[in-house]
Amino acid sequence: AMPDAPSAHDILKLNDLGGYTVPTRGLYPFQWNWDAAITALGWMAAGDEARAWREVERLLEGQWDNGMVPHIVFHGDAETYFPGPEVWGVQRSPSTSAISQPPVLASVMKILFEEGRDRTLAEQKLAATLPAVIDYHLWFYRERDPEGTGRVCSYHPWESGMDNSPQWDGPLAGVPAVDAEYVRRDTGLVDPSERPHKYEYDRYIYLVKFFQQNDHDAKVLYRDCPYRVEDISLISILHRGTRDLVTLCEEDAASLDLVNAHGEALFSLKQSLARTEEGVQALWSEELGCFLSRDARANVLLEHVTTAGILPLFAGLPNDAQAKQMGGLVADWLAQAPYGVASTHPESTRFEPKRYWRGPSWLHINWMLAIGCEDHGLTQEAAQIKQASKDCIAAAGYWEYFNSVTGEGCGGRDFSWTAAMDLYWLN
Ligand code: DGY
Repeated sequence: AMPDAPSAHDILKLNDLGGYTVPTRGLYPFQWNWDAAITALGWMAAGDEARAWREVERLLEGQWDNGMVPHIVFHGDAETYFPGPEVWGVQRSPSTSAISQPPVLASVMKILFEEGRDRTLAEQKLAATLPAVIDYHLWFYRERDPEGTGRVCSYHPWESGMDNSPQWDGPLAGVPAVDAEYVRRDTGLVDPSERPHKYEYDRYIYLVKFFQQNDHDAKVLYRDCPYRVEDISLISILHRGTRDLVTLCEEDAASLDLVNAHGEALFSLKQSLARTEEGVQALWSEELGCFLSRDARANVLLEHVTTAGILPLFAGLPNDAQAKQMGGLVADWLAQAPYGVASTHPESTRFEPKRYWRGPSWLHINWMLAIGCEDHGLTQEAAQIKQASKDCIAAAGYWEYFNSVTGEGCGGRDFSWTAAMDLYWLN
């Protein structure tokens, strides 16, 4: 990073609001689900294992009775974010949003447990948090794949974490615009050319209101939500997380009697794994050489080459031939936009190198892709992705995401997950 710039550890401390870490001050002033998980890795790598587990515990304070871990936990008040708790209208304490986010949490907990030096702490914290995370995964399969297709769906582009990915353009067109005035905060804090358009926000907010009007009723939402997408990134991250949960229970933590205590849940999770291993093949595109998301309402595959479509590598879902094809795709992708794996393929007509999920590169995604490549014997591609990620930080420092063509830092500055990835993965 820059000579006089704050260190990665300084950034985590700057963003620490007391057991939870905001992604960045101003733009995201609460605790976000997948940010918290990634950030916990940074706390561990900085030598503070207790603080890493605290991040997990504080996120779980937001868990709903049905098992969902929400995408935002509103621990405090802040005027700088829209839509805040009053717009979501969730009557809980702490207040939360009403959707989830890719559950990378379980995979992170496996790392905290296995790599933690303080064994007493690791065993105690795992035992205290694992039951909640098992419930979280059961919730995903039960409510988001009630027909047992092996492909969970999302109800909002925010749930995918990849808000304005070209993948969602088609399904979002089926969502009405909200019929109310609102004031965005994000575009006052960062350059609007790095954020989604009003067109998208009108529909994002419509969906938020829709969930509330339907009392978050699982059956009603599955039937009536105007946006229902089998999201390949969500499917993949959930699958990897479930595998990691099963491993934690069966191998690493056998001494904690978790298998006995959660036998039935584990059986159900293993069935879900088997369903996804089969069901995901319906999302493979031989022509594009990657997996795709699917609009579950319109019943069409969303034919866009994005990082979501290669995340199945992280989950161990592709067969050998598919993995090989994706490896070739990654190499070609990096050759065209060298600063990390661009969230949308540079050859796409919808590629925009600095607009949020339409082209920039994101370090936590790069990390998952590098692990996925490594797992499938794509060692060279894994090393290339890691080097490209180092190049982003060297070029610009700890930004939210990076222009994949120039390496310029974009979005929020002094960003927790980028600092965490540097501490844990790149150092
Ligand atoms: C935002 O507000 O931009 C977030 O991505 C929503 O989670």
